[in-house]
Amino acid sequence: MLKLAVMVSGGGTNLQAIIDAIEDGRIQNVCIETVISNNKNAFALKRAEKAGIPAKCISPKDYEDRDAFHDALLRVLEESGADLVVLAGCMVVIPEKIVRRYENRIINIHPSLIPSFCGKDQYGLKVHESVLARGVKVTGATVHFVDSGTDTGPIILQKAVEVRQGDTPELLQRRVMEEAEWVIMPRAIHLIASGKIQVTDGKVIEIQ
Ligand code: GAR
Repeated sequence: MLKLAVMVSGGGTNLQAIIDAIEDGRIQNVCIETVISNNKNAFALKRAEKAGIPAKCISPKDYEDRDAFHDALLRVLEESGADLVVLAGCMVVIPEKIVRRYENRIINIHPSLIPSFCGKDQYGLKVHESVLARGVKVTGATVHFVDSGTDTGPIILQKAVEVRQGDTPELLQRRVMEEAEWVIMPRAIHLIASGKIQVTDGKVIEIQ
């Protein structure tokens, strides 16, 4: 059984997609040990509570400095016994010491086709604003392992989504979530739990 720690910051629709996929068997041999939010008002915490999953808020506001916050995060992750850390709409930049501790064991969902529209300052709705400003006709989502850069780790899965005339950032965000994020995030977790994902030379190979 692969144990997950899911880190969230907001609405938690990706967390919900994972919970639903575990319940209906699209993800097998996986359990969510804990949900961690940096934001005490995150609706994701309510979703965890409703699903009976232990959840807690680790907010940087409650610590003296960034280092103390990072130490607290690492402690909670270690205490959870998690094998895989899942960033599901988590807006915390994961520090080097946690990346090293969980090498190729942290995954993130990003709402674009990396390497487009990613990196510093490209997160949440801002990504979709950038996509519309540039006028690209295809966007999508990416699940990748987290390394010490921002959105630079090995790519596990991607799925394309059409940009339509008249899209607003909110409309596009919803379509990317429904058609891509909620599909590829559960699938990536299932593949990892089934031992089908291998990282070689910084690239992901899916074992058939
Ligand atoms: C999702 O669109 C996710 O891809 C994005 O934040 C949203 C969170 O929604 N993550 C990033 O931008 C990370 N760089 P959710 O809380 O409803 O899952």
